[in-house]
Amino acid sequence: MSNRQVVIAIDGYSSCGKSTFAKAIAKKLGYAYIDSGAMYRATTLYGLQNGAFDAEGTLNSTKLIQALPQITITFKFNNEKSRNETYLNGTCVEDEIRTIAIADKVSRVAEIAEVREQMVLLQQQMGQEKGIVMDGRDIGTVVFPDAEFKIFMTADPAIRAQRRYDELKAKGETVDIKEVEENIRKRDYIDENREVSPLRKADDALVLDNSHITVEQQMKWVEEHLNRILEK
Ligand code: DC
Repeated sequence: MSNRQVVIAIDGYSSCGKSTFAKAIAKKLGYAYIDSGAMYRATTLYGLQNGAFDAEGTLNSTKLIQALPQITITFKFNNEKSRNETYLNGTCVEDEIRTIAIADKVSRVAEIAEVREQMVLLQQQMGQEKGIVMDGRDIGTVVFPDAEFKIFMTADPAIRAQRRYDELKAKGETVDIKEVEENIRKRDYIDENREVSPLRKADDALVLDNSHITVEQQMKWVEEHLNRILEK
């Protein structure tokens, strides 16, 4: 395989296994992996900790927009835990941003144009050197429209709910699977229908439906396509 460095953009619905897949590709190629959703989640956490949501959980977007200059998001690899971790203003928030409390609110934060602008700029800086795999909702359409390899992932909503439920349960969160599926459907709706950068497949993205295939099969699929792209 040629060792030309490229940008791999992975977009798709929530709980499709995008991050597991993206991490596996990055590891295989020795690329950096960036979870762009973690950045929206960390911004949501900042909002929750700093009064941008009222007692009923309604977001005051003006407050959050004003706070944006105070938000710094970075990533660091934790060798002990063998995972990439998200830092909000220097503090590791990797576990906190994965809770359902954040999942419930993050779509509202990701709708704000000013938030997206700040995140996109940061993401583009991270990809300047290429050799990166980034997953999200607008990576192939907005962040890296010239990415050499664009993948659009999808899976049946009920299967996605089961996967997310298993993940949350393994972390010790008590959740109702119906609540998880509802959260997924609500997020799909907001992601696809928001005004700014709605989730959509880039014209030149390849679709990968992983409802019934294993991570190994997905890796085989990616390798075949990547070989073809690198030979160009
Ligand atoms: O991939 P995730 O579930 O961690 O994403 C969290 C939220 O952030 C989700 O509601 C969609 C949004 N998001 C986005 O709008 N754009 C991205 N590039 C990544 C995530």
